[in-house]
Amino acid sequence: MSQPIIIDTDPGQDDAIALLLAAASPELELLGITAVAGNVPLALTARNARLVMELAGRRDVPVCAGADTPLNGVPLVTAEHVHGDNGLNGVELPEPTLPLDPRHAVDFIVQTLREREAGTVTLCPLGPLTNIALALRQAPDIAPRIKRIVLMGGGFFEGGNITPAAEFNIYVDPQAAHEVFTSGVPITMAPLDVTHEALTTAARIARIRALGSRVGTAVAAWMEFFERYDEEKYGQDGGPLHDPCVIAWLLAPALFTGRDCNVRIETHSELTRGMTVIDWWAVTGLPANAHVLRHVDADGFFALLTERLARL
Ligand code: RIB
Ligand code: CA
Repeated sequence: MSQPIIIDTDPGQDDAIALLLAAASPELELLGITAVAGNVPLALTARNARLVMELAGRRDVPVCAGADTPLNGVPLVTAEHVHGDNGLNGVELPEPTLPLDPRHAVDFIVQTLREREAGTVTLCPLGPLTNIALALRQAPDIAPRIKRIVLMGGGFFEGGNITPAAEFNIYVDPQAAHEVFTSGVPITMAPLDVTHEALTTAARIARIRALGSRVGTAVAAWMEFFERYDEEKYGQDGGPLHDPCVIAWLLAPALFTGRDCNVRIETHSELTRGMTVIDWWAVTGLPANAHVLRHVDADGFFALLTERLARL
């Protein structure tokens, strides 16, 4: 029985690889893709999501555009310095012909959760949490209907990547993150602490390029473009492949270890805005609101990713 999911995303090369992994995995029923502004502005993330689903041969999956700015009029911060000017730099692909679904992403999320059996749909946010928070604001009745939110975001032992304290997805819309983490919906969180172990080393990229397919060639090129910023910063072979960790956890949770923790979001301080305060050592006595992933079997992760990409 396949697991129905909605992926909310701001492609972004790593988002694109997560979308391909999900598209290639029959264990997952892709109900739809919702685009959010993040790595690049919304017009580009909505284009990129359609381009990737077309590359995956999955024109059957609706792609909806959502929020173009964070909650409460906070100015959008983007990451072209990491992802390039269109968000999928590294390889030239034809413009998508897959039309954008006319429904707003938030309406699509609410409508789908109301239509599908309660407790069966998993939301997989890979970017800022704006669309998810807006859906919960618009329709509080959906919260108990969500099976789980499995998200990439935050950091604790690894600190931040857009500021010393904050990871990009949370930093862009801290209020949205606060509202998601206080929603009561079960959460699995893939922070930098786990994604920094999933490194796109030269050997791993070579195995993906050796697939010899359009998908393998594109993914290898995206990885080589995307990793250069982090290789420079961290001085290591390969960059962290963040977003596919979300999909891999759904497919093979045994590849990961973690623990249930209380997680709170800094929404006021200029210095630490967007920091995820993860009570890893349970010193606050506050109830756990997230299962926080800490380690991944990186070889197993890349073996799974490569095997699934070979199917496209
Ligand atoms: O900090 C990494 C996250 O920010 C990833 O989701 C990446 O795609 C960017 O959105
Ligand atoms: Ca992302």
